[in-house]
Amino acid sequence: MRARILRYSREAVREAGQIIKRGGLVAFPTETVYGLGASAFNPNAVARIFEVKRRPRFDPIIVHVASLREVERVCLRIGRDARILMEEFWPGPLTLVLPKSDAVPDIVTAGLETVAVRMPSHPVALELIREAETPIAAPSANLFGRLSPTTADHVKEQIGDEIDLIIDGGRCPIGVESTVLDLTGEPTVLRPGGLPIEEIEKIIGRVKVSPVSRGRAPLSPGQLPRHYSPQTPTRILQGEPEIPEGTRAGLLAFTRSEARPPFEVVKALSPTGDLREAAANLFSLLHELDKAGLDVIYVEPVPEVGLGRAIMDRLRKAEGLGKAP
Ligand code: TXA
Ligand code: MG
Repeated sequence: MRARILRYSREAVREAGQIIKRGGLVAFPTETVYGLGASAFNPNAVARIFEVKRRPRFDPIIVHVASLREVERVCLRIGRDARILMEEFWPGPLTLVLPKSDAVPDIVTAGLETVAVRMPSHPVALELIREAETPIAAPSANLFGRLSPTTADHVKEQIGDEIDLIIDGGRCPIGVESTVLDLTGEPTVLRPGGLPIEEIEKIIGRVKVSPVSRGRAPLSPGQLPRHYSPQTPTRILQGEPEIPEGTRAGLLAFTRSEARPPFEVVKALSPTGDLREAAANLFSLLHELDKAGLDVIYVEPVPEVGLGRAIMDRLRKAEGLGKAP
């Protein structure tokens, strides 16, 4: 199959809705990253998502909704905190883990008794869910463990040939995935993301932040220690790195993009030091550096507040375990 990309239009979304109704797969923009969507109630279509992404079946998928009625269809109970947070932050980059209803096939939740739900704020995503007349199960539209896509081209490069349609809605404005908050017990952030934890705490008080799990079954596979990775070995910059002769190193700096030998390429996340801008640029600059033929990518750490937490979380996971030269 050749990759099919359609620029956003009413007709494109109408066609995409039909594809989802028939059990097909459509990649679509959200405010965080591009998603790879299928009908949440069609287990065969969801199985295809796992195949296309080469994603292990134990990793559950977020269900995207466009109305509270749909949340009530997929969740067994919606507690007080959940209602308040939905009211405050939906539509937007917050995913809530809640007890699941029987309507949700086990393959979506990897057999868990919980379901992750989110109402995206991107108009194209909302229009698609309405057009498909069903909640849409959608992980990020990348290969498992690789960099998340923030443009239609990123999707095309990784999985374009294996899906029915990509709707091109331009760059994703937030650029990092949603914050995943588990509300089935004591409120716990499973993945820092596009909604700063501080914002959540203003509304429901202190929340726990789950540590990245190493060497044990993860609570949420977004916590897998190696994830969101470029194919080039990636390292968080600490002091001056020792770069051997003949090694091509690139630098993803926080604010300064001036030449800085011995780095061969230097890009900056945000010239003004704005963490929102840095998050929005993170994956696309990592994609660029990954294609630059480098042996190693160094990334300057950013302050760990607000969106900086999501950025540092992704960088630590991108650093993974491989050995850099
Ligand atoms: O911003 C986003 O969340 C994007 C866009 C497309 O909406 N989606 C996304 O999906 O990042 P994905 O599959 O790449 O990451 C979903 C994360 C994974 O870490 C998964 O393990 C976790 O959410 N998750 C899903 N269902 C869960 C559940 N029932 N309990 C705990 N974690 C869950
Ligand atoms: Mg993902």
